[in-house]
Order: sequence, then C-alpha cells, then structure tokens
Amino acid sequence: MQPSSNNGLEYRAGNLFCEDASLESLARQYGTPLYVYSQSAILENFHAFVRNLSQVPSLVCYSVKANSNLSILHLLREAGSGFDIVSGGELSRVLKVRAAPQKIVFSGVGKTESEVDAALAAGILMFNVESAGELNLVASRARHRNGCAPVSIRINPDVEAETHPYISTGQTIHKFGVPKEDAVELYHHAASLRELEIRGVACHIGSQILDVDPFLKAFDEIKGLADGLRASGIPIEHLDLGGGFGIRYADEAPLELDRLASGLEARIRGTPYRLVVEPGRAIVGSAGLLLTRVLYVKRSPHKNFVVVDCGMNDLVRPALYGSFHEIVPLRQGSNGMFRADVVGPLCETGDFLAQDREIAETQPGDLLAILTAGAYGYVLASNYNTRPRPAEVMVYQSHARLVRQRETVEELIARESL
Ligand SMILES: Cc1ncc(COP(=O)(O)O)c(C=O)c1O
Repeated sequence: MQPSSNNGLEYRAGNLFCEDASLESLARQYGTPLYVYSQSAILENFHAFVRNLSQVPSLVCYSVKANSNLSILHLLREAGSGFDIVSGGELSRVLKVRAAPQKIVFSGVGKTESEVDAALAAGILMFNVESAGELNLVASRARHRNGCAPVSIRINPDVEAETHPYISTGQTIHKFGVPKEDAVELYHHAASLRELEIRGVACHIGSQILDVDPFLKAFDEIKGLADGLRASGIPIEHLDLGGGFGIRYADEAPLELDRLASGLEARIRGTPYRLVVEPGRAIVGSAGLLLTRVLYVKRSPHKNFVVVDCGMNDLVRPALYGSFHEIVPLRQGSNGMFRADVVGPLCETGDFLAQDREIAETQPGDLLAILTAGAYGYVLASNYNTRPRPAEVMVYQSHARLVRQRETVEELIARESL
C-alpha cells in the first residue's frame, strides 16, 4: 500500500467523480475555485500508516501544517490519530477537535513563551525542542507553573534527502534542530533540570522524500543517540522520525512505505522504544484537488495560455517550488490535446499552475481539476491581489459538505481603516 495511491477519483460516463459525488455539481453548487477532499482517501492514507506500523509500539501524529481544516483534524482524531503542531494556532485547532493531549507533539524552531504556556496547560505529550535557548525557555515556563515539561530534542542528523532545497531540513546547513555533536551535552543539561522530563529524541529530515534509505539513516542516528543516552541513565522512550513521506504527483516511483515500515520494525523490535511519525502530505496530499474554471484561452504562434480562475494565491506550490500538479478536465472530451501554460489571473509572471503542459483541448467555461492539492494547498493560500480564499468541501460517498465558506472581500477589508 502506497500512501499516494488513493485519491478517490474516477471518471463515470465521462464525468469526473470524487467518491460518488460529481465534481461538476459541486462546482455548480459551491462555485470555483474550490478545494475538494475525499474523506475515504484521507482515512485510507492514515490507516496505511497505522497498518504498516502495527508491529511496533507507535503513534501516528498527523502533521497539522499540511492541511489544518477542522473537519480533517476531527476526522483523523476520531480515527485515533495524534497531532504534530508547530504553533499556538495549531494547538487551538487540535484542542477544538478534542485531540487527546497525550497524542500531541509540538515541533517548530521558534516557539514563543505564550505558545509554550498554552501547550503546558494542555498537557501535551512532548515539546520537540530545537535549541538550547528554547530548552531553557520551556524549563523556565514549567518552573513558573511549578510543573514539569516533557521534552525531546530535535537533532539534525545530517542526512541528505533528495528533495527540493526549500523542503530539505536535515543537514547542518539548515536552521532546524541541534547538531548531533552538541546533542549529548544538551541532553545532560536537560537531565540536570528538574522541571524537565526527557521523553525522546526527534528528527525531521525534509518533505516529499521518496527514498526509504534517508529515513532509515536518520532513524539509525536518533536511535544510536538514544541508546547512548539510556546507557548513561537518561530514560529515552520515544523516537520521533518526523514526517516527509513522499507521494506521487506525476510519474515518480512512490515511497515504499511497507519497506520503510519493515526496516523500522527490525530496528525497534525488542527495544524499549515507541516510534512516533509525523506524516502530513502523505495523509492529505492525494486526497484533495482544486477545482477551477477556464476564463480565457489565448493562442499565439509562440505560446498558448489557458487562463483559469485560480492562481498562485490559491495554490502556490507550482510558483514556489516549481512543483507538478496533474490537471484534468471534469468532462472527458474527444477533442485531442494541445500544449499550453495554465495560468492564474494575478499580476505576476510566476502565477502559473502548469508550464508548457500537454493538456486536453479546452475552452472558456470548462472546468478543470488540479490534482494532488490536498497538502500545502489551502494552508499556503493568500489574499494577494485582494482575492478571497476558496471554499473547501469534504466528500464522503455521495455526500458533500461545506467545511469552510468562501471568504468575501468585505471580510478581507473589515480590519482595515482609512
Ligand atoms: C517537524 C515536522 N514534522 C512533520 C512535517 C510534515 O511533513 P510532510 O508533510 O512532508 O509529511 C514537517 C513538515 O515540514 C515538519 O517540519
């Protein structure tokens, strides 16, 4: 089972369906641009992790940053998921869906005092601490409450992950984590502070990693460190491998989750450790798409452009990372293909969804689906050009429910004054 294999999509009598819901009727009912998620696909992706890791003590903490819509958090909480959060805002979201505090890990390189206080009050499983300064802050806030803070230290295992430079995080050149050479000293410092309870060792080497080996290398690094710490009397219990499990956007060979799981299992069986993983993209990426309508088709001898009603403000991944999203028509036609850039309406040359792409012939008014947009789609959307962000819909079988209303221009300007 690959996390990317399921997206809940299929053509029926030439019309694209998400589960048993016609996407054309969703576009008619809710307008475009519109994010659409398949509930079954999200759950299947989550259960693929649970199933593959069932042979070792483990906790799957969905990484909220990938898509933080409350309906998705609620769905995953009901399925038993824990959560990886990176801000006080994300903490509020997971508490709102009544996440079990002992299934929440708090990652991130810049936690503030008030965020630390809120997480202490909630009673989370652990802070994944990223620097000596942060460790001291967490200790001082715990002291202030006469309490004890559960911590792991995120180490930088210096493992190279072949992915986009902006989403590679596990080498010494990156801002994340503590260099592995400094980790032992920091753990001993932490152990000397009675307001800290050391729970684990953490890492996260990047995102959209399709190869098993970097994960196993990183795991070996954190386990080696944990073994040494245990030998010196520091009772490490959790080994948090982070997220970053890659999915198929185009024709990449998908990450072999089963092979990764057996590699991890072989390393954990018979040890005192509990594995934590923080998948984000692999849970929601394939389960979401962005519906858009064609506004204009501009043809010239040099280049063709399909201008659609969504742009880089709705889905920034192509502009930001040069990433590929398959674009398909909602109605299968017999009209053949042509080569074009699919672009948005924003005043930016970088405002494209696809460049020089062979796509189905299309005309103004047609509906298109931009696939594999469930992760880092809506969460990175902006209001650039005073464009309200899209609505979001969750589909389950033939039912669709609006899980976020479309923003209005009035809402966008309501906080401003003359
Ligand atoms: C600490 C941490 N955990 C988990 C994730 C989730 O990564 P992904 O969505 O690639 O699984 C991220 C993403 O950057 C992260 O920084």
